[in-house]
Amino acid sequence: MKLITEWTTPLRYKPYHHWPAAYQDMLEGAIQKSDWKQAFHIQPKTGLLNDPNGFSFYDGKWHLFYQAYPFGPVHGVKSWYHMVSDNLVDWEQHDYALLPDSPYDSHGVYSGSAMTVEDKLFLMYTGNVRNEKWERHSYQLGAWMNSDMQVEKITKPLIENPPEGYTHEFRDPQVFRYQDQYLMAIGAQTDSEKGAVLVYQSNELADWELLGELRYTTEEMGFMVECPNLVFVDNQPVLLFCPQGLDKDIASYQNIYPNMYVIGSSFNKESLAVENASDLVNLDEGFDVYATQAFNAPDGRVLSVGWIGLPEIDYPSFEEGWAHCLSIVKELSIKNQHLYQKPVIEMQELRQNHDILQGTAQAKNLLLYSPDNNVYELKLELDASTSGSLYLFADEQNKEGLKLSFDSKHDTISMDRSKAGIPFGESYGSIRTAALKRQDKLTLHIFADRSVCEVFVNDGYCVMTSRVFLKDPKQTHIFLQGFEGDYTGDFWTLREMNE
Ligand code: FRU
Repeated sequence: MKLITEWTTPLRYKPYHHWPAAYQDMLEGAIQKSDWKQAFHIQPKTGLLNDPNGFSFYDGKWHLFYQAYPFGPVHGVKSWYHMVSDNLVDWEQHDYALLPDSPYDSHGVYSGSAMTVEDKLFLMYTGNVRNEKWERHSYQLGAWMNSDMQVEKITKPLIENPPEGYTHEFRDPQVFRYQDQYLMAIGAQTDSEKGAVLVYQSNELADWELLGELRYTTEEMGFMVECPNLVFVDNQPVLLFCPQGLDKDIASYQNIYPNMYVIGSSFNKESLAVENASDLVNLDEGFDVYATQAFNAPDGRVLSVGWIGLPEIDYPSFEEGWAHCLSIVKELSIKNQHLYQKPVIEMQELRQNHDILQGTAQAKNLLLYSPDNNVYELKLELDASTSGSLYLFADEQNKEGLKLSFDSKHDTISMDRSKAGIPFGESYGSIRTAALKRQDKLTLHIFADRSVCEVFVNDGYCVMTSRVFLKDPKQTHIFLQGFEGDYTGDFWTLREMNE
C-alpha cells in the first residue's frame, strides 16, 4: 500500500468506513517506527491531531479529547478522539468519542469542551456542515458521556444558528459553571468579518440564551476568534483565545495565527466585561502552540493543554503520514498580574535516572551533557549577569542544534531553530524572542521528547515550544556556549507514558 500524498476535497471528506482497515494499519506502523514518535506527549494514533477538546475531570479520572483526522496529515473530516488518565501524565487511548455521523456534523465534529454534571459528562461542540455550494453551517451540539465512557449525542442542536449580525464562522463552545448558571464562551465573526467572543447562558444546558459579546479589549480582534476559554485563576478572569488575522500593531507575534491571553481584575457578568483587562500577550513565545484549552479543575488548579502544531504549515512528519501532538499539561497561576505556566507536578512521575550538573563555565563551548536520547527533563539555573547560549538536540561538534540564547543586557531570551533539523514553516521566521523580567538567576526547565521541546523560563514566566525534526536521532548533545559563570542543574531521563 502506498501513502496518499495528493489530497482532494472528496478524499478528505470520504466517510471513515469507506477506508480499508489495512490503510490505517499502515499509518499506525509508520508512526510506530518513526524516529520522531514521542515518548510522553499525546500524539495521534494515526493521521492528524489538532485542538485539545473536552479537557475535564469526571468519575475519578482526567479526560482529554482531541480533534482527529485518522487517515492522513491533513485537515479532513474531524472527530473527537478520547484519552483517559489517572495522573495527567499516563494517557490511555480510549476510542473515538464523537464521529461525524449526523446531519448536524457531517463535515466535522469540531472543537468544544466538557463539564461534569451530576453523574455524567456533558460535551458541547460545533457541528460543521457544508452544503452543495460548500457554504458552511455551524451548529452547536451536545452529548452526554456515562461512566462506561459511552457517548450519546443529543439529537437536536442546542444552538441552530449564529445570532443576527454574525457569520457561520461560529465555533468552539466552552461551557463552565458560573455562580448559579452555566455560561458558554464561543468564537465568532461579525458580518463585517471581525473576530469576537460571544457569551451565552443556560439554566439546564438545553436552552441557550445569548448574553452578548465578551468585552476584553477595545481593539479589533482580527477576522475570527477561535477557541476562546475563560478561566478563573485566583478569582481573576483569564481569557485564552486565538484571534486569527490580528493586526501585529495590537500585539506582536510571528506565528501564522496567534494564541494569546488577557488577564482581568474581575469579571462582570452584567456587562460581560473582563474588567481592567491587560494587553494581549502570547501564551507561548516559541513556534507551534495553538488552540490552548484550559479549565478550572475540581482540585482547585487551573490546567491547560495546547495543540503543538499550526494550521496551514507543512511539517516534516507529513511525509510519514502523521501530524502534531499535544503539549504537556500545565498549571496556570498569576503573579504580579502576569500569567505563569508550569508543568504539572505529576510530570515528576516520569522521572527515572537523575544526574546533577554543576560547575563554572569558562570555555567557549562546554559540553554540558550527552544523553542517550532526546527524552529527558533538564532544569538549569544560570547566573543571569551574563549572556550565552544553550544548545539542545546538538551534534558532536555543536554545528547544529536548537539554540536558546539569553541576553542579560536586554533581558531577553530567544529560541532559534534555523539549524535544528529539517527546516519548516520558515516563511514565519526561525527565531522567536521574548522579554524577561530581570532576576539574579535564569532558570530553564526543559522537556525534550524526540521531536518536540518545551522550555519553561523563569518558573513559567514564559514558555517557548518548538517541534524539532532531526535527520539524525543521535543529535542529543547539550552545550553551553559563550557563557561565563556558575551553573547548577538536574537532569532526568524520562520514561514513556503508560510504561
Ligand atoms: C482551531 C480550529 C477550530 C475548529 C477546529 C477544527 O484549530 O480551526 O476553530 O473547531 O480547529 O478542527
